[in-house]
Amino acid sequence: MDRKRVGILISGRGSNMMSLFEAVRRPGYPAEIVTVISNRPDAAGLAWAAGHGLATAVVDHQAFAAREDFESALHSALTAARVELVCCAGFMRLMTAGFVRRWQGRMLNIHPSLLPAFKGLDAQGQALAAGVKIAGCTVHFVVPEMDSGPIVAQAAVPVADDDTPETLSARILTAEHKLYPHALALIASGAARLDGGHVVGGHPVNQQAQLFSPAL
Ligand code: GAR
Repeated sequence: MDRKRVGILISGRGSNMMSLFEAVRRPGYPAEIVTVISNRPDAAGLAWAAGHGLATAVVDHQAFAAREDFESALHSALTAARVELVCCAGFMRLMTAGFVRRWQGRMLNIHPSLLPAFKGLDAQGQALAAGVKIAGCTVHFVVPEMDSGPIVAQAAVPVADDDTPETLSARILTAEHKLYPHALALIASGAARLDGGHVVGGHPVNQQAQLFSPAL
């Protein structure tokens, strides 16, 4: 089987990267991780990845005066590893339109809200402030506009009256760890694909229902 070569971009603890690492070990999973790249040398996820035998690289944004120079180094690291699909997993750098266009249609991101609601920082706090009763997470293709772009898959979780940003984040994170491997498999296998600005295919209702937590 032709497994898609995936590069993961992280900035922090990398728990979504870990869930992708577990997923690619499953027989028949349509992707492999060929590199993990962090913009922060001290990202905890980087040491974890190296300790688990993954190829890692650091492209430290602080070492570059201009964002474009940082991004061209990042682009070189991705192409050197012959990456076909990029998964942003807690990668906390805004990207220029130029960089995004180079990877458009080949770069995914996970965001801790049911987009298009609650873009930007502290999505979970925004959800609590809005008083929503269902929250969740989204995997989407990256486009120049922040936290936008064609939605690949979403998972939903309930919001409790006594939730804090921390408890809601933890519940959403558990859903993220199911969602990202699912969404990457849809795209890497070709079961779902971009069509006119939306992602189509590979979304039977019974599969979607598995992404409600607790399960329906
Ligand atoms: C995750 O909750 C992810 O959805 C969020 O950062 C966290 C990273 O955790 N991403 C964003 O907010 C992007 N806008 P992780 O490092 O443990 O995967």
